[in-house]
Amino acid sequence: MEVLKIIGGKKLSGTIEIGGAKNSAVALVPAAILSDRVAIKNVPNISDIESLEIILNYLGASFTKNGDELTIESLTMENKPITLEYSKMLRASSYFMGALLGKYKHAEMYFPGGCSIGERPIDLHLSGFEALGATVTNDGDKYIIDADKLIGADIKLKFASVGATINILLASVLAEGKTTIKNAAREPEVGNVIDLLNDMGAKISGKDSDLLVVEGVESLSGGSVKVIPDRIEAGTYIIAGVMNGDNLKINNVIPSHFSSLTDKLLEMGADIKIFDDYVVTNKVDNLKPIKIVTEVYPGFPTDLQQPITSLLTLADGTSIVKELIYENRFQNVPYLIQMGADIEVNGRELKINGPAKLLGCEVITTDLRAGAALILAALSAEGETTIKEIKHVLRGYENIINKLTKVGGEISLEDV
Ligand code: EPZ
Repeated sequence: MEVLKIIGGKKLSGTIEIGGAKNSAVALVPAAILSDRVAIKNVPNISDIESLEIILNYLGASFTKNGDELTIESLTMENKPITLEYSKMLRASSYFMGALLGKYKHAEMYFPGGCSIGERPIDLHLSGFEALGATVTNDGDKYIIDADKLIGADIKLKFASVGATINILLASVLAEGKTTIKNAAREPEVGNVIDLLNDMGAKISGKDSDLLVVEGVESLSGGSVKVIPDRIEAGTYIIAGVMNGDNLKINNVIPSHFSSLTDKLLEMGADIKIFDDYVVTNKVDNLKPIKIVTEVYPGFPTDLQQPITSLLTLADGTSIVKELIYENRFQNVPYLIQMGADIEVNGRELKINGPAKLLGCEVITTDLRAGAALILAALSAEGETTIKEIKHVLRGYENIINKLTKVGGEISLEDV
């Protein structure tokens, strides 16, 4: 079994290069099948992309990678049911519902996989497809989505769901007539998908707003896009710099995509300098406690709630964290407590009393961002930490061991 071994307390100095956004790339790849030939640049080197490659090859699409550039050709592909095994590989498999429905007016697959951080229903995706004229039948975990025709519709999301927004876009770009999506998700990753679809010939307006308008077109062809920098990866390493940085530079970023994080870190008194496309951080002591409430973009991102919780264990005083997006996103907390943190869990709220002295020990990763949180805590803890179940982390953080080792982190992968 592979585990991560981390010796804490090392200063992190030098430059970390941020890769393409996981949550963009995993949507751009399924979206590509709506066209004939698509190029996607700056694709992150993560196993979620390998999972999507398996699904595309199964469908008969070609997937050629040249460095971080991906070319996807769909002329020879055919519509087949996405198997249970493939559906469960990741949450983003759900995007094949919208893409196959949009392209073939038929999609068959199972409930998607993804981190066990909540129930994560897909009711908003399915009701969006039905609004466009599709019928959805499900037999347990299996979904069959059919439409004689897809007709544009006015859709209002009861929650600004990222996945539902993207899936409805994929199903509506080739529909007849106009579709509007009210209360659409405004995450930058949605905008990245809109850029690709429009480059294929789609007609989508309202990017970055909560009202998207899609004018259906007859066909799509070509298209290329560059994956935007991963704001969650960037935020994770910025937090690492606040905890252990000595002039740690986080490079290739779009600061406006994570201003909700940097605003909070500056409120704590963190030493952060923000430039056009990079950030420099230094560890300082006596950080002030803060209150974090996770919200949809541009609010504080739920994906950085677990990483920042590790930092808050070191602040001078009591911090509060409210997780309003997912109902089960505190699975990192018992392990932080095991390391010496003082945290009370009250439903969807954490009360974090600091500063704690974190001591290395054996911990287990339960989900992607919980794993990131444990790595951050281990980098600060005294002594050695062993992190098990690290597959969760490796699927979503590109080359994390190399990136941290390069800046002085003592972290290694070991077979035990
Ligand atoms: C995307 O998930 C991201 N994943 C998540 O990142 C991220 O946390 C989330 O957006 C919010 O930003 C990918 O992009 C692959 P949602 P998604 O639809 O699309 C409820 C990570 O760590 N909901 O915005 O699944 C749902 O229960 C991952 O990188 C419905 O009720 O998120 C949840 O409470 C984790 N019905 C909330 O919305 C629906 O039909 C957020 O879901 C859909 C969602």
